[in-house]
Amino acid sequence: MELFIDTADVKEIESAQAMGLLDGVTTNPTLVAKTGRPHREVLEEICELVSGPVSAEVHAVVYDEMMREARELATIAPNIVVKIPLIEEGIRAVRSLSDEGIKTNVTLCFSPLQGMLAAKAGATYISPFVGRLDDIGHDGMALVEQLVDMYERYDFETKVLVASVRSPSHVVEALRLGADVATIPFGVIAKLIHHPLTDAGLARFLEDAKAIPKT
Ligand code: G3P
Repeated sequence: MELFIDTADVKEIESAQAMGLLDGVTTNPTLVAKTGRPHREVLEEICELVSGPVSAEVHAVVYDEMMREARELATIAPNIVVKIPLIEEGIRAVRSLSDEGIKTNVTLCFSPLQGMLAAKAGATYISPFVGRLDDIGHDGMALVEQLVDMYERYDFETKVLVASVRSPSHVVEALRLGADVATIPFGVIAKLIHHPLTDAGLARFLEDAKAIPKT
């Protein structure tokens, strides 16, 4: 499973990349707004740092405007993936962008039927928002399971990108279900590595190492 970071913060991307495990980046308007910087400028900087896929979301909700924005975003770098919301005009745009060879990440997916439409339109990625489904008492990972099974059964090439990840257990479940990608906020990435038994065990080893004769 590929690991993406869900952020527009360049410092967070640099830190995650220092571990050597970063496969890509996803952004959204909320995350870019937090940087206080222009959309294109942030994305250009991210694409200079990261060679894997970088998702950049359109702000339009009508077909013609989405297409214009998508083509413009795609000029930033070859690794740009255009994020399109899962609405009727968006699905139409995904079909056209796919025909033009522009990669897409269909965002705000909350049902298997939405996922089917995105795949039939030729989406490169589908982003089920697991945390937001959990927030309203639904089971976000159940949607991931439905999407993974559907895409395998019908040979859809669309990759399941688990988004709205809130905890390490979402990542464990994504792995168990065979998701293609999980996009993870910086705070959760930090939690993936830490375990109290590792810390306690290392402290003990370092203490005991002092008793080993030098020669
Ligand atoms: O990038 C989209 C998604 O990961 C947002 O997550 O936590 O705002 O639901 P969240």
